[in-house]
Amino acid sequence: MHHFNYRDNELYCEDVPIKLIAEKVGTPFYLYSHATLKRHFLTFNDAFDGVDRLICFSAKANTNLAVLKLFADLGGGLDIVSGGELYRGLKAGIPPEKIVYSGVGKRKDEIDYALSVGILMFNIESLEELELINDRAGLLKKKAPVAIRVNPDVDPKTHPYISTGLEKNKFGIDTDAAIEGYKIAGELKNIDVIGIDCHIGSQITEVEPFKDALNSIKTLINELRGLNIGIKYIDMGGGLGITYDDESPPHPGEYARSIIQAIEDMHVKLILEPGRVIVGNAGILVAKVLYRKPGKAKEFVIVDAGMNDLVRPALYDAFHAIKPVVEIEGEQIVADVVGPICETGDFLAVDRRVADLRQGDLLAVMSAGAYGFVMSSNYCSRLKVAEVMVRDDRFHVIRARQNYEHLIEGESIPPFL
Ligand code: LLP
Repeated sequence: MHHFNYRDNELYCEDVPIKLIAEKVGTPFYLYSHATLKRHFLTFNDAFDGVDRLICFSAKANTNLAVLKLFADLGGGLDIVSGGELYRGLKAGIPPEKIVYSGVGKRKDEIDYALSVGILMFNIESLEELELINDRAGLLKKKAPVAIRVNPDVDPKTHPYISTGLEKNKFGIDTDAAIEGYKIAGELKNIDVIGIDCHIGSQITEVEPFKDALNSIKTLINELRGLNIGIKYIDMGGGLGITYDDESPPHPGEYARSIIQAIEDMHVKLILEPGRVIVGNAGILVAKVLYRKPGKAKEFVIVDAGMNDLVRPALYDAFHAIKPVVEIEGEQIVADVVGPICETGDFLAVDRRVADLRQGDLLAVMSAGAYGFVMSSNYCSRLKVAEVMVRDDRFHVIRARQNYEHLIEGESIPPFL
């Protein structure tokens, strides 16, 4: 039950007919269900009941202020990868002491920002970064709390673009070098070593890779404790997959059990950084059919949302189910559902069996709440779409559609032209 359901042949989000929102807001727009967001967050959090933990929602999956505020109100923390995400998190009311900062390329100004507000910890991805953070903390007269992001070299069995825990990936530090890293960190005056971190990939649909990663982390913690390096936090990253099509990822309960068993005797606080599993199926993209075009080889349904609005199909060959907002009787068709952009990769679905969608019909691109709007761009000077949140029988535009003025904001023509 995701709160996107048909009632009398019409798709609703909670108690609001989606057609009504489209009439008021225009298309395309992203639409999020408050009840689904809340339920997903709480289900994930409750799965770890009895364990000392902090759920740091991974901002990159969906950074809308309203979405972040909802999680802040539920006691959530935040996993960030940029100064911009830190700014958004603070604006949304996430306490800095619940924010963890990952990413291989933290800049000096971003490090200073995070030090000055006092985040929970930096997840360190290289020795040079460790040294820079130590220097900056010294200048700001702070102590920087850190974890080292370890690359446990496990195969998460997911799309190569989103697997991060393999030796050949740019993320983290391999386990041998990590020990050295911890020794160095322990000597640095302005560094406070408090944790260990790993994140092996995204859209993972089995528990085994998580277990393997955790086992290698446990071995490392024991080794570190032998060296008198205390570890108070284990950050297991994110990565739990969702159902887009016919995948059957483990329920958060099963995922949690496998982690809880493994850390029972470790005396640590657990941090998790879920993104997709919380927001992915809590959001959809609503678009409208502009034209139908029968071709010699294919039938095309041309819609008003393109790869600049939802890039996942073009970038990862990702599957997103497509449903008519008002059910259509009769035979389905097989078609490519494509956007208005001048690239062959601009598709939402290829050779897909869909309802007999005609000019003017509304369609819902499902499972678009994660890595949807956040990855959208102004390519082809297309305006970024609106975002809407529904709660029961109310809806609110949580991000206005851009207008042409926004497109040229900050641009200027030099005097020498
Ligand atoms: N923590 C770290 C350090 C991460 O790099 C990520 C995602 C997460 C947590 C959250 O992972 P999740 O629970 O959402 O799987 N754009 C791609 C996904 C990229 C994921 C990047 N890192 C997509 O659309 O599939």
